[in-house]
Amino acid sequence: MNTLIQKLQSVKNSQELEEIRLEALGKKGIITQKFSELKSLQGEEKRQFAQEINTIKQEFESLYYLKKTQLQTQELQDALQNEKIDVSLFASRSHRSLGHPINYTKDRIIDYFMHLGYELCMGPLIEDDFHNFSALNLPEYHPARDMQDTFYFNDGMLLRTHTSPVQIRTMQAQTPPIKMICPGPTFRRDYDLTHTPMFHQVEGLVVDNGSQTSFANLKYTLQDFLRHIFGDVKVRFRSSFFPFTEPSAEVDISCVFCKGAGCRVCSNTGWLEILGCGVVDEYVFEAVGYHNVSGYAFGMGIERLAMLTCGVNDLRSFFETDLRVLEQF
Ligand code: DAH
Repeated sequence: MNTLIQKLQSVKNSQELEEIRLEALGKKGIITQKFSELKSLQGEEKRQFAQEINTIKQEFESLYYLKKTQLQTQELQDALQNEKIDVSLFASRSHRSLGHPINYTKDRIIDYFMHLGYELCMGPLIEDDFHNFSALNLPEYHPARDMQDTFYFNDGMLLRTHTSPVQIRTMQAQTPPIKMICPGPTFRRDYDLTHTPMFHQVEGLVVDNGSQTSFANLKYTLQDFLRHIFGDVKVRFRSSFFPFTEPSAEVDISCVFCKGAGCRVCSNTGWLEILGCGVVDEYVFEAVGYHNVSGYAFGMGIERLAMLTCGVNDLRSFFETDLRVLEQF
């Protein structure tokens, strides 16, 4: 017993302490075994022996708990000492920024429309012909369907060429009123200074029974949106054509670089084309089984907005993951 107490007094860490506890009180421990010797004793002798080993056990345990507390305190002190952080040291160089220009621009667009109560919707990147083309009034002979423009899979499925199919999916899944935007990647077979095979668009769609879906509502919304993104610019609506809207328009802003005077970026026109929009064509409502509703829609390329707001002139630099470029934002 005395050796146990001696050992206990000289333990240096929690592991040694545990070893001694097992040596004394484990299944085959010295004190445990003493208790089993009780079986062979009788009467007064048994009572006395029991008292003796209980005293020993108590003595061992109180010393054990004392030692345990001491060691835990010591170990905590050591950890605090060794793991302390010197806050006065210089930080290593960090790459904090606003994020990738595409994500930053996308978030600003989402933010604007969500404040107006638009719902954020998503759709699949691999689409079928119905959602990407025919429900949007892009018939079989339409040039956009050409192998030159679209990535097809062998089974007739394709990589969506715009975010407009999400209009169709949302209308199929919900009932009016609808007010949604859908940001996301889109794909076309194109690669040069202003085109990459993968790029991003944001689609917007508003449908209801007619009270808030006039061309005037569309015009006001987009005008306000473009001033939110670009600041004090002029906005003009130019009559145009899209198969899924009638009437349709393309929307330009006064050139952010030359303020409308004419420069290389705006090809001396003073205007920059930003997005497409229009009143939803009746044919599209028919394709999803909607009756007696009206709506407007718009679509824009995120890269174009990012290039103009971040002053980038080669689209490809967005996708080359070159830190020297990305760090500038
Ligand atoms: N889907 C068109 C494109 O990829 C963009 C667009 C134009 C979407 C007009 C619309 C719209 O919803 O009304 O070029």
